[in-house]
Amino acid sequence: MSCSIILGGQWGDEGKGKIVDIYAEIADVIVRYQGGHNAGHTVVVGKEKYILHLIPSGIIHSDKISIIGNGVVVDPEALMTEVNDLGTKGITVKNKLFISKRANLIMPYHKIFDKHSEKLKGSEKIGTTGRGIGPSYADKMTRVGIRVCDLYDDTVLKNKIYNNVKEVNEIASKIFNIDTLNAEKIVEQYREYSSFLKPFVTETSYFINELYDSGKKIMLEGAQGSLLDVDHGTYPYVTSSSSTAGGGCTGTGLSPKKINNIAGVFKAYTTRVGSGPFPTELNNKTGEYLREKGSEYGATTGRPRRCGWLDLVACKYSIMINGINYVCLTKLDVLTGLDKIKVCIGYKYGDTTATTFPPEIKKLEACEPQYVEFDGWDEKITDITDYDELPVNAKKYVEYIKESLDIEYAIISVGHDRKNSILLNNIF
Ligand code: GDP
Ligand code: IMO
Ligand code: MG
Repeated sequence: MSCSIILGGQWGDEGKGKIVDIYAEIADVIVRYQGGHNAGHTVVVGKEKYILHLIPSGIIHSDKISIIGNGVVVDPEALMTEVNDLGTKGITVKNKLFISKRANLIMPYHKIFDKHSEKLKGSEKIGTTGRGIGPSYADKMTRVGIRVCDLYDDTVLKNKIYNNVKEVNEIASKIFNIDTLNAEKIVEQYREYSSFLKPFVTETSYFINELYDSGKKIMLEGAQGSLLDVDHGTYPYVTSSSSTAGGGCTGTGLSPKKINNIAGVFKAYTTRVGSGPFPTELNNKTGEYLREKGSEYGATTGRPRRCGWLDLVACKYSIMINGINYVCLTKLDVLTGLDKIKVCIGYKYGDTTATTFPPEIKKLEACEPQYVEFDGWDEKITDITDYDELPVNAKKYVEYIKESLDIEYAIISVGHDRKNSILLNNIF
């Protein structure tokens, strides 16, 4: 019996989709445990490219079970689009996809409020994906959220929508100065969604535990990244869910006792989308080089990603809060061709240097990153599948990271395709 978590170690977009797809070959069940369709997980197989938002990245494999756990916020409309898009690529979800009855729904007013509250914040905006994620989790926490199971009790559904819309309309008219919403229209719309969702809906907490007890290999797929976690990340410049390992338990109903391995996916450099501190950010030609060479544009919103050097202070923090024992290092190929490569090993404040990741945003903004420098390499590495064949300087770079973080590598990824991977350890 085994269960492993694969999660993002930085600010998201580390290449989780690619890694999950690779281990989905071995796993039987793949479960998303938090976030929503703010995520964009890319899987490339030959000429085909899939971008998964809500559905676990294991869905590409025809014989695997995919589960959307209770910790996820589900936008039925986005899910319908995703199911249909997969269908056009020949991927079916029937009898393969299951959705928790306990998952909270994203409602039309969540999307509207997400966008308008960002507008009101002006220059202090978070830079959200505008998908209604924050407002949906806020409703969950204030206990007025509408859950998937509510779709199947018309009295409850109607009651909840009417109560919420009454309050929502007060805010819409008095604070955002926008059109009010029609509760009945929303009820009708969600009744329609309920029929679409019905074949997938189940009590996933029992289901996942039964699968685990029967010996199935379970893989939990994190969305976003550890530094975007609502508790441990660069708050308030974070998402609204628990993207760290703990979320894997609360978001699925699996006990921490059942988790064997925690694999962190880390890019060989760093990126971030949206606002917030980023000590090693490169606002120069090297940053642009990484963006273009690494195609660093959002898989969900298309926004250009901010790029910078690898930050080992942040990585160590991420390894500590998650208990990461395996690292999947991605996009090493993007560094090919750089004359020098830098890695941050400390944050300097005046005369002192710290090696911890501070909670205060101002401190993160004020710190001066301390770097060690490596010689680069020019050899193309995308087709390398044997570690020994990596150029000497690339090996020096990855060895340094391994020693500093005191971890084992599970995969070193050298290109976007499934096959562009150096497989080193099985996480199951
Ligand atoms: P996720 O959100 O963590 O799943 O990551 P995204 O899919 O948002 O972004 C990662 C991007 O990098 C995608 O376009 C992937 O196809 C691509 N990618 C993943 N691993 C590698 C790699 O090793 N090398 C290169 N060049 N691209 C990669
Ligand atoms: P994947 O799973 C990168 C960022 C947004 C914004 C902040 C809050 O593909 O790695 P939200 O819409 O969640 O309220 O936005 O979080 N963000 C991500 N950044 N990858 C993601 O997902 C992200 N999901 C949200 O850009 O800064
Ligand atoms: Mg992404």
